[in-house]
Amino acid sequence: MKKILMVCLGNICRSPLAEGILKSKIDINKIFVDSAGTAAYHVGNIPDERSIEVAKKYGIDITNQRARKFMVKDFDEFDFIYAMDESNYQNIISLARNAEDKVKVQLILNEIDADKNASVPDPYYGGNQGFENVYNMLDEACEIIASKLV
Ligand code: 4NP
Repeated sequence: MKKILMVCLGNICRSPLAEGILKSKIDINKIFVDSAGTAAYHVGNIPDERSIEVAKKYGIDITNQRARKFMVKDFDEFDFIYAMDESNYQNIISLARNAEDKVKVQLILNEIDADKNASVPDPYYGGNQGFENVYNMLDEACEIIASKLV
């Protein structure tokens, strides 16, 4: 079974959306999708209300998710680790033990444009439009990821 991990900072805004969106596009009996944060601020919490709302608007329920922190053993567990932004990417890479760990980590928006190294902007301190923007970016990236997985 292929295993995919979505990672952001708090695991309450961006990566829960990425997890929910990708799950909606794949067969969850064949592919395991999870998410985590590089920081522990929100461990155990449900996703941010604004992420819950934007997901709901597009027919996706992410209320069953609970935030957790990224762990070194995730390198053993997962085949692909997608970072939402450059800072998350560097934080994950700094925990990698070897080249095999490092090669699993990618910026998620590089699935759309591999040379751009673009980041999904952190929507935490902004308004609802930021969450809509994040949703659309992640939907496009997850469509590509899902198409490669089948
Ligand atoms: P996320 O957003 O990394 O997309 O979950 C954030 C959530 C919480 C904080 C920052 C970003 N925070 O500073 O608490």
